[in-house]
Amino acid sequence: MGAENLAYALTQVVHNFGAVGVLGGAVFAVWPDSRLSHGRKLAWLIFGAWSAQILSGASFGATSLYYYGKTPDLSSIATAALAIKVAAALAGLALAAWYLRRGEQWGHAGARRAFLGLAALAALALTAAAFLRWFS
Ligand code: HEM
Repeated sequence: MGAENLAYALTQVVHNFGAVGVLGGAVFAVWPDSRLSHGRKLAWLIFGAWSAQILSGASFGATSLYYYGKTPDLSSIATAALAIKVAAALAGLALAAWYLRRGEQWGHAGARRAFLGLAALAALALTAAAFLRWFS
């Protein structure tokens, strides 16, 4: 029980800080003042945070598999919420990677749209997290 709870808690620590990184990094880039001159550094932070979300999300599942031999039974609403989180995380990771590869050619307006998109994906995933938690 102690080891199991520790595994979930440490995974949750990474997952919580990852959530702060994906939303906070994107909002910080555009609001209240534009910090797009630091766009690449922020995009690396956000890219790392999306990666952390995907790895720690998978680690929740792996911990359940290890201790129970199966993943939790989810209601249809919880399953939809999890699918939304996974889709948002993959899209966020891809958008951050795309910005890191091509963002210098996008100009101020294009870069701003990219960070707003990253913030929207993070907000969507956080909203879905609440439904996953309470409809599981
Ligand atoms: C591949 C992507 C992801 C997977 C597989 C995943 C999976 C999970 C799982 C299994 C839980 C535990 C649910 C429970 O306590 O019942 C969880 C919790 C959580 N996830 Fe994710 N997640 C992913 C992405 C994200 C993202 C992108 C965010 C935020 C930006 C996020 C935010 C949260 C939060 C805040 C919680 C805690 C909810 C609570 O206990 O109140 N997750 N996630």
